[in-house]
Amino acid sequence: MSRELLWVSTCGSTNDEAVERLSDPSVWAIGADVQTSGRGRMGRSWLSAPGAGLYLSWIARPLFPQSMGAALPLLAAVAVADELVARGIDPMLKWPNDVQVSGRKLAGVLCEARGTPDRWCAVVGLGLNLRRPTTGWPPEVPAVALDELGIDPPKPQDLADCLLPRFEAFLARIPQEGLAPIISAWQRHGPPQGTRLRRGTIEGRYLGLADDGALRLETSTGVHLVHTGDVELVSQED
Ligand code: BTN
Repeated sequence: MSRELLWVSTCGSTNDEAVERLSDPSVWAIGADVQTSGRGRMGRSWLSAPGAGLYLSWIARPLFPQSMGAALPLLAAVAVADELVARGIDPMLKWPNDVQVSGRKLAGVLCEARGTPDRWCAVVGLGLNLRRPTTGWPPEVPAVALDELGIDPPKPQDLADCLLPRFEAFLARIPQEGLAPIISAWQRHGPPQGTRLRRGTIEGRYLGLADDGALRLETSTGVHLVHTGDVELVSQED
């Protein structure tokens, strides 16, 4: 069955619209011109003004158990980074799934899983800044848009048409190859090894990702695995 990208002019959150359509196998993804209640990670909101961004929710139907689900946000970030490189931009990923350019956030991913551990699917929501909002950026997180990088912003639907096959291509490799292709692509787009990072009270040197996608930090007490939360940059490699 062919799966379709649905586009709406406005909605609360494309993630919520996608969750409502999980039982319809013909829906591939949902995009919107505007979101009135765009949501980010950790309970934050996502600024979603008309023309300012791509607001897209992909329905992923993985053929692997939910125990490997931490791969999905990494997968989405890597696919976005690959697409940006193809458009002449040099992004850097911030664990787990922020896409940054020169330390400023260009895109973020909000993944929400549904179902049972063996029979599950996930909504992978992507927000990517196309144009600087007329109201300016909210102060919380340093952000950037494609137009500020000297890139002519594509139409949101055209960008979605490029990204969705990239998402699916990574997803399709997992049952045969495991997470290795995603982990190595993430590391290629991620910070240099040795960068000092902080997660809460834990600070250490970045040692790459573990096989399950966790962030490895070398601290004074040994190697610490970070599985959740936000990580801050302390300083580049010393
Ligand atoms: C983050 O906090 O970095 C994640 C932001 C995710 C925003 C996108 S926009 C499309 C989808 N719908 C939402 O409400 N959120 C995600």
